[in-house]
Amino acid sequence: MSAIQDSVFLKACRREPTPYTPIWLMRQAGRYQAEYQAIREKVGFLELCRRPDLACEVTVHAVNQLGVDAAILFADILLILEPLGVGFHFDAGHGPVIEEPVRTNADIDAIAASIDVGASLGYVTDAVRLIVAELEPRGVPLIGFAGAPFTLASYAIEGGGSRDYRFCKGLMYGDEGAWNALMAKISGAVADYLEAQIDAGVHAVQLFDSWVGALGPADYRRYVLPHVAPIFERVRARGVPAIHFGQGNPALLPLIREAGGDVVSVDWRIGLDDAWSRVGHDVGVQGNLDPLTVLAPREVMFEQAQAVLDEAAGRPGHVFNLGHGLLRWSEVPQVQALVDFVHERSQR
Ligand code: CP3
Repeated sequence: MSAIQDSVFLKACRREPTPYTPIWLMRQAGRYQAEYQAIREKVGFLELCRRPDLACEVTVHAVNQLGVDAAILFADILLILEPLGVGFHFDAGHGPVIEEPVRTNADIDAIAASIDVGASLGYVTDAVRLIVAELEPRGVPLIGFAGAPFTLASYAIEGGGSRDYRFCKGLMYGDEGAWNALMAKISGAVADYLEAQIDAGVHAVQLFDSWVGALGPADYRRYVLPHVAPIFERVRARGVPAIHFGQGNPALLPLIREAGGDVVSVDWRIGLDDAWSRVGHDVGVQGNLDPLTVLAPREVMFEQAQAVLDEAAGRPGHVFNLGHGLLRWSEVPQVQALVDFVHERSQR
């Protein structure tokens, strides 16, 4: 087996024993780093995503600075909206803004039935090739990713972030046929996009369903699961491990597991041991430190990180991570201390 397949991260994804627990951090590349900020002073966020050389640089920098066990492609879940026909931009301080929110049947009909990944998102697969060329010889795997249909639909319909998902749930409950048509288009495009990333060389993928915790289990099963499961089926056929990330509602965990993935990502709202019994010990788990503990006194962060390790109890198949992304107020030495702590304390 190749060296990259022997990496602790990929072994953990396959639930094989590892000499220590692998760790990577969602949003490990970002504004908390001075080097990232220096690049962002010169180019806008979307331009950074569209420049393979710069996307490669910030991806690799996070690995070098932190010593984490995997890289995550620098990109954004919203990039796929453009080829689907949903224009957006980032407003400083306000996050993403969708230019014309998708609300009516005519809007949904106008969404592309399929996307040409090479033509529209070729800068992402170009970045993948650059990063893999740099990191694979060093034995560091690269995680590709995409947004999940519910989370992408929520941005497209709401027009940005939302507290109550008024328009999104309005469409879901008000016109199930239109909802299913929209979700099916997004689902097919996401699967195409992940396949293209895998073909370009990513060693694992993560599907981000960041906002799906706004739903209860019955609604997840009815309105979401049928559109997520086919994505994991197609990734599985490509033979790379898949991580399924949802957050905000631990009651969804068994259904998130049912929808697919080799590793289920868990947030801090449930104990990792409890979460693992709910999803079953025949899948891996990722998580589940509260990102706010990174802003806490160091000994408190260590105490909480130790509790996560204790709950995982050294079982094969644990990937240490936060329950959600690193916050912009995190400090580099504190993040480095977390990575070192997990490596040292999990030695077996
Ligand atoms: O290091 C990594 O994790 C890889 C890069 C990455 C980014 N976004 C970079 C980014 C990844 C994996 C994402 C995914 C993403 N994007 C998600 C899912 C993960 C999650 O956090 O739930 C979501 C919901 C988005 C949408 C998005 N992108 C929002 C809401 C924002 C604004 C948030 C904010 O804090 O302002 C972004 C912008 C964004 N994506 C930044 C980064 C580093 C900040 C942009 C900047 O430089 O100003």
